[in-house]
Amino acid sequence: MSLKQSLEWRYATKKFDANKKLSNEQLNELLETVRLSPSSYGLQHYEILVVENAAVREQLREAAYGQTQLTDASQIIVFAAETEINEAYVEKYVDEVARVRGVEREQLRPFEESMLGAVGRYTEDQKIAWAHKQAYIALGVLMSAASEMGIDNCPMEGFNAGKFDEILGLKEKGLTTSVIACIGFRAEDDAYAHFAKVRKPADDLFIRI
Ligand SMILES: Cc1cc2nc3c(=O)[nH]c(=O)nc-3n(C[C@H](O)[C@H](O)[C@H](O)COP(=O)(O)O)c2cc1C
Repeated sequence: MSLKQSLEWRYATKKFDANKKLSNEQLNELLETVRLSPSSYGLQHYEILVVENAAVREQLREAAYGQTQLTDASQIIVFAAETEINEAYVEKYVDEVARVRGVEREQLRPFEESMLGAVGRYTEDQKIAWAHKQAYIALGVLMSAASEMGIDNCPMEGFNAGKFDEILGLKEKGLTTSVIACIGFRAEDDAYAHFAKVRKPADDLFIRI
């Protein structure tokens, strides 16, 4: 299937088949694809939790207004924004760039200065908003990749982020929940699978200048 066909096939799955799980290979391939998501400066301002534990998922479901996908999907992917994007965070990243690319640390100084400039200019709230945006890019990659692999998915904002942070112990990790995705396989009787796609017509969506 082309990516376009995959996106026509996918829909926000409301009812997952609780008996169907991703294989380890599928999960690893999907996570590796998400790991390749681009981000501003490459800072990857987030971490990603893969939740399988049934008891934790029960709690998350309650914090997501009872949405059944939380307990029936194969895994819950939680995109969590970094709340401490600071000089130390940038420094660690630049160290990694130097190591992976085999370049002198000093050569990366202008790149580092540019990132520190952005980090210094932003308020704490702006930095977290910046991190959330990057997490959404990773969500987009996950949905596209999963769909290409024939894995159903449902992105979700319908949850209490404060409660998610508490259940998952994110505050202590310097993280806060951005958005989540449930992944797995659709139940045969999920009526939503047959709904026509509602999207803006191209003329209303694209502005050509
Ligand atoms: C960021 C985001 C948050 C969403 N939150 C929820 C949600 O909490 N629960 C849900 O069932 N669907 C949720 N959706 C699914 C949308 O309602 C759905 O993608 C949209 O109606 C288009 O339908 P389609 O994805 O089936 O084509 C969300 C989608 C996005 C992208």
